[in-house]
Amino acid sequence: MTGINRKITLARRPTGLPQADDFHLQEAPLPPVADGAMLVRNRVFAIDAAIRGFLDDRPSYLPPLAIGDPIRGMALGEVVDSRLPGFAVGDTIRALAAWEEYSVLGADALGLEKCDCPDRDALSLYMGTLGPSGLTAYVGLFAIGRIKPGDTVAISAAAGAVGNVAGQIARLAGCRTIGVTSSPDKVALCRDLGFDAVIDYKAPGTLDEKIAAAAPQGIDVYFDNVGGEILDAILPHLADHGRVVICGMIANYNHADEQYPIRNLWQLLVKRATMQGFLTYEHPEFLGEAQSRISNWVKSGDLRPLENITHGLEAAPDALIRLMSGKTTGKTIVCLP
Ligand SMILES: NC(=O)c1ccc[n+]([C@@H]2O[C@H](COP(=O)([O-])OP(=O)(O)OC[C@H]3O[C@@H](n4cnc5c(N)ncnc54)[C@H](OP(=O)(O)O)[C@@H]3O)[C@@H](O)[C@H]2O)c1
Repeated sequence: MTGINRKITLARRPTGLPQADDFHLQEAPLPPVADGAMLVRNRVFAIDAAIRGFLDDRPSYLPPLAIGDPIRGMALGEVVDSRLPGFAVGDTIRALAAWEEYSVLGADALGLEKCDCPDRDALSLYMGTLGPSGLTAYVGLFAIGRIKPGDTVAISAAAGAVGNVAGQIARLAGCRTIGVTSSPDKVALCRDLGFDAVIDYKAPGTLDEKIAAAAPQGIDVYFDNVGGEILDAILPHLADHGRVVICGMIANYNHADEQYPIRNLWQLLVKRATMQGFLTYEHPEFLGEAQSRISNWVKSGDLRPLENITHGLEAAPDALIRLMSGKTTGKTIVCLP
């Protein structure tokens, strides 16, 4: 194939919250497809908090982007040319790719998998509730949190992409769920999704009192998406043998050099509790089961997908800025034609 490939690249490293000028829209010729590679037309980008980390010049579980690199992110797309055994034109794939109309991917692309997407009119769902966000919620709750019926499960960023699914799955697993979020609108949304109690951490009153009122018997599992002040406030309210699931620490991502000092870590000893981080794709033994149970819950209407979608490659930087401003609910998605 010949033609132009439009992409969003890193123009400069953000300081704090990313700004529109940190990104640049560029055009380049479509790259050739070598043996062992395939050309994918990207259709859906997952706008994830992890992308903010790739923009800093700091080692993490992946190397930082260089200035001028296309912005790395999970994408779902259709194979339009393939010299990669096992992948044919017309296949739908999901992988860590970049904010570009077309990506050349090899077998080593992170998270590369063929995606069975029976509902072609709802491809975005396979990047959210039926995709990485849902799988992350499931793996965090079952593999790391070891939830069981009757547990009290608290979840931060409860109206967000992973948090809303985690809350709904924990309820379906017979747990009592407590959402932690930041505004009356998000509180109302969480109640609508079926959380048993919801804490607005920005409302008047101390976080300590709000958590005590919502969880008088203590918290068996805390599914943490944010870290910082909320993690610190939850620790004294853990039940004996509680589990803290470290899914993410978004409260630190815009200010990674000034991390909130956690003061209550000693509560892990007092409560004989555990705290463990995880990466979803390091738990492949849970993914098949997760995919099938989440699909069934969505089909039966027991689990409600929640997403906010914008359209066009140019929309991606603003979608990330809104996500990192705490302005979004549900899965933040950018769809390409
Ligand atoms: N471990 C894994 O494999 C894995 C996979 C996917 C995602 N994650 C992590 O999961 C977490 C949630 O990701 P997501 O995609 O579902 O995001 P999200 O929850 O949809 O969006 C961000 C939400 O985080 C909350 N937040 C709290 N402090 C914030 C701050 N200082 N700046 C911005 N937002 C803040 C806000 O919710 P409130 O207004 O309710 O506070 C905001 O709406 C992230 O930490 C991400 O890195 C981990």
